[in-house]
Amino acid sequence: MGNDQSTTERRILSGMRSSNPRLHIGNYEGALRNWVELQNQGFKMFCMVADWHALTTMYEQAGEVGRNAIEVAKDYVAAGIDPAKSTIFIQSQVKEHAELHLLFSMMTPLGWLERNPTYKEKQQDIGVAEREPYGLLGYPVLQTADILLYRPWGVPVGRDQAPHLEIGNDIGGRFNRLYGQDVFPAFKYMIPEDESRAKLPGLDMRKMSKSYDNCIYLSDSEDETAKKIKSAYTTPSKQRKTDPGIPEGCAVCQYLKIYHPNWQPLWEEDRAGERGCMQNKTECIEAVNEYFRPMRERRAALDDGAILEVLAKGREEATAVAVETMRLVRDAMGLSYGL
Ligand code: TYM
Repeated sequence: MGNDQSTTERRILSGMRSSNPRLHIGNYEGALRNWVELQNQGFKMFCMVADWHALTTMYEQAGEVGRNAIEVAKDYVAAGIDPAKSTIFIQSQVKEHAELHLLFSMMTPLGWLERNPTYKEKQQDIGVAEREPYGLLGYPVLQTADILLYRPWGVPVGRDQAPHLEIGNDIGGRFNRLYGQDVFPAFKYMIPEDESRAKLPGLDMRKMSKSYDNCIYLSDSEDETAKKIKSAYTTPSKQRKTDPGIPEGCAVCQYLKIYHPNWQPLWEEDRAGERGCMQNKTECIEAVNEYFRPMRERRAALDDGAILEVLAKGREEATAVAVETMRLVRDAMGLSYGL
């Protein structure tokens, strides 16, 4: 029982919410860049667009969530996910996610969800308690269903998702113990080792996030990128070129580290007061724009029709695995009724 992935390709599952039509470079560094690398190493990638998860905070804008989903899929392809090798699909198009979520919701202790740190943060974002939807508390249960439906070898995400992955393996382990079968082998957490990529800072040095309005988007134009980086947070005590900088606390230096091929001497000069923030910014703008140029060009050439075809194919591929897992689940639970 379980996933005999020594003989088949190893599966990887991950996803992004469609709460925004455009992914930011934090989504890219924390997750998408690894997806592309894993795909190119021969892993079987399942790249999901989590439209249902986006509804936990945007249920009043459901149409927007749906339109965004198509755009997010475009960003996946633009970043290098190849639909011929990898499966790109929308969560709500594979109904088994809802069935497995429901079954897991029956066996998940409430305390595990109430203690979840991301639940407390989101509660504060939403504000008024009466408007808090039931789905928000169950968010990690749905995420667990997303993951375990594909019985994956690993899940590549940014640092902020670690609490959800832990709940995921806890629920999988609990299922196996309850029903005496190893349907869900534990999956690996694939979080970038470099902390500045695992939690990429935004233009203001807080975590890059749509809700902080501090993002550089994958599909920003070169001018937009330049304008944003020019206004980015640098060492506050560095007023003149000769003042010493602290690159670890400077957003521009963090981006230089990731995108400039020869960043180390720049950091040392910054620290020694031998280079100014404007010079850093100019070089950072060039490096970021150069890195993302091919993706931006690829994205501009993608149309909705082509993406809808990719998603239709992805839906079929994802459903094939999901149906197989649900058969194992119903058998283990004794709910197959001879079917
Ligand atoms: P979401 O949509 O918030 O973020 C998508 C991915 O981007 C990563 N990320 C970051 N990484 C580094 N630095 C940042 N500043 C940054 N901001 C975001 C996130 O860690 C994530 O990997 N719950 C998930 C979506 C989801 C999912 C899943 C993920 C639904 N089902 C199953 C994995 C497996 C979420 O809200 O991600």
